[in-house]
Amino acid sequence: MTRRAVVVGTGHYLPERVVKNAEFEATLDTTDEWIRSRSGIERRHFAAEGETTSDMAAKAATRALADAGLTADDVDAIIVATSTADLTFPSAATMVQSKLGMTKGFAFDVQAVCAGFVYALSNANALIASGQAERVLVIGAETFSRIMDWTDRGTCVLFGDGAGALLLEGQELAGTNKDRGILSTDLNSDGRYKDLLYVDGGVSTQSTGHLRMQGNQVFRHAVEKLASTANTALDKAGLAASDVDWIVPHQANIRIIQGTAKKMGLSMDNVVVTVQDHGNTSAASIPLALSVGKERGQIKEGNLIVTEAIGGGLAWGAVVVRW
Ligand code: UT7
Repeated sequence: MTRRAVVVGTGHYLPERVVKNAEFEATLDTTDEWIRSRSGIERRHFAAEGETTSDMAAKAATRALADAGLTADDVDAIIVATSTADLTFPSAATMVQSKLGMTKGFAFDVQAVCAGFVYALSNANALIASGQAERVLVIGAETFSRIMDWTDRGTCVLFGDGAGALLLEGQELAGTNKDRGILSTDLNSDGRYKDLLYVDGGVSTQSTGHLRMQGNQVFRHAVEKLASTANTALDKAGLAASDVDWIVPHQANIRIIQGTAKKMGLSMDNVVVTVQDHGNTSAASIPLALSVGKERGQIKEGNLIVTEAIGGGLAWGAVVVRW
């Protein structure tokens, strides 16, 4: 028997304001056609003034708990993957804990930019597998609209805000790759590439800063590293790409998503795609896509799913989970 971290609830939250590509045409030298054809993005949501990452995270978490038929009292730990926490400290996760009215357990943030949710899932899996936690809320939540340079057409049209949450529960299962739950994880980073995608501010520079990206360089790394980490994670679980029902990728660019699926020998019929509606929501994009994919009726119990993501660092990784 093996202790597995099984997904028992999902939920997501998107802020009310929807911004279509055409809105950028008024202030930037860009077009709906360019954004659509180069990235696949058609619209994105932006948080309202005063709406924070932990507000959105708490809403997604509340929905995941309701989906599981559980309450905050049933949870031992909260992990929030984010690069855009409300304050420098305390963590967004402790703010979510307070908003859920949860007074026990423990909560912390994980910061691995767009790969953050994959890193958070891997941490949650380790906590559950080692018996340190029974049920863990794993949330990805971001307000990237706060770190955009609205004069930089190469970045500001690409990102959006939102939150998604999974509730994981420890279950004693057979220990084979037919089990439900997280079957394997693969995490990587390479700080040599830290200048390809970063924010030019932070606490020690006394400014919030803006996101800076050499998009075409990141693009080059993405397809190769994403297919490779997904295949490595599958290999660790004794599975192959042909066993996969759904790739649920980080939603940065439809061309990266297509290129990764192709490299893995899978069709786009096996990919959950939300990039057109959400843009790139960094650490929130995978849990958003999982929750939306389930709501659409794409993801069903027993399906084999591989999630993969890459972002600033560069940091990248994949998780194989049977739903
Ligand atoms: O989530 C973290 C990981 N991030 C990513 O995965 C993002 C990876 N990168 C990408 O998605 C793509 O590289 C972009 C969508 C950012 C850009 O697409 P691209 O095909 O790589 O274009 P490019 O950066 O090579 O730029 C091509 C041209 C440039 O003009 P010149 O130099 O050829 O005259 C850009 O200035 O497109 C221009 N351009 C734009 N034109 C109209 C850049 N942004 C825009 C824009 N509207 N918004």
